[in-house]
Amino acid sequence: MTKNTPSYLLQVGVADRERLEILAELYNPGSQSFLQAELDKSSRSILDIGCGPGQMACWFGEKFLDSKVVGVDISDAQLAICEKRRNDLGVPNVQFFNHDITVEKIDHPLFDAAYCRFLLMHLEKWDGFFEQTLAACKPGGSIFIEEPAFPFFCYPESASLHRANVLGNQLSTMAGLNFDCIAPLWRYIRHLDVDVCAVKFSQPALTTSREKSLLWRSFHQIKDVLLVSKLATLADVNEILTDLDAVARDPRSLVGGLRVIQLHLKKR
Ligand SMILES: C[S@@+](CC[C@H](N)C(=O)[O-])C[C@H]1O[C@@H](n2cnc3c(N)ncnc32)[C@H](O)[C@@H]1O
Repeated sequence: MTKNTPSYLLQVGVADRERLEILAELYNPGSQSFLQAELDKSSRSILDIGCGPGQMACWFGEKFLDSKVVGVDISDAQLAICEKRRNDLGVPNVQFFNHDITVEKIDHPLFDAAYCRFLLMHLEKWDGFFEQTLAACKPGGSIFIEEPAFPFFCYPESASLHRANVLGNQLSTMAGLNFDCIAPLWRYIRHLDVDVCAVKFSQPALTTSREKSLLWRSFHQIKDVLLVSKLATLADVNEILTDLDAVARDPRSLVGGLRVIQLHLKKR
C-alpha cells in the first residue's frame, strides 16, 4: 500500500454528516428489517462496531430498551455526533467510546450480539476485526455484518459515473482496500469458527435528487485523495462532479445504490 494514501479514505464528523444521513435513510429500513427478523429479542448487550454517527446504535437502544448498547468508532468527530444524537433522542442505554477494533478486544463483558455496516470495506485487513469481534461475543452470540459490492450504476448510463467508479476502485486498491466486499467476505467467513444463520441482499433504488446526490457526495469525499495521489486532475474531478450533480437533478435518471450482503453469523 502507498502509505501516503490514508487507510480511512473518507472525511469524518460534520464533513461527512449529510452523506451518512442519506446513507442511513436509504439503508436503515433494510438493515432494520433484517435485524428485527434475526436478532434475538432477549439480547441484553449489543455492540455496534464502526458506528459512524450512531444512527443504528441509537435504533438498537430504542428497540431493545432492556439491553445495553455500546457503539465504538476510531473517530472522535463521529463519536461527538453520536453523543449528541443519543442525548437528543434520550436513549440512556446507549454509550459510545473510541476503540480501534482491529487492534484489541473491547474492555467490556462479552456481548450477546455485535453489528457492523460499511466497516470492512474501509479496513485493509480483516483478521484483526474478526479476531477481536469474536473475542468480544459470547459463545452462541450473533455477529451481523452488512457490507457492499461496488460499483454504483444508473439509467440512462453516465460516462462520468463510470469514470468515478473506476477512480474509486483504483483509489481503494492503492490504499490496500476493496470496496467490492461481497465475494471476498463470503470466501473469508468460511474459515471462521461460526455458523451462517442467515444471508440476504439489500439494494436501495435512489430516485429523489437528495438520494441521488449520494453519487457526487461520495465522489466529493475522495476528491482530495485522488488529486494528491495524481489519479485525476482538477479538471477531471470538477467535470465528474458537475455531471454527477446533473444526474442527481435529472428527474429521468434512476440510480442503483450499492448492493449489500446481510450476514447473520453465530459464534460456535
Ligand atoms: C462508512 S462509516 C459507516 C458508519 C455506520 N456503520 C453506518 O453504517 O452508517 C465507517 C465508520 O467506521 C469507522 N472505522 C474505520 N476504521 C475503524 C476501526 N479500525 N475501528 C473502529 N471503527 C472504525 C470510521 O471512523 C467510520 O465512522
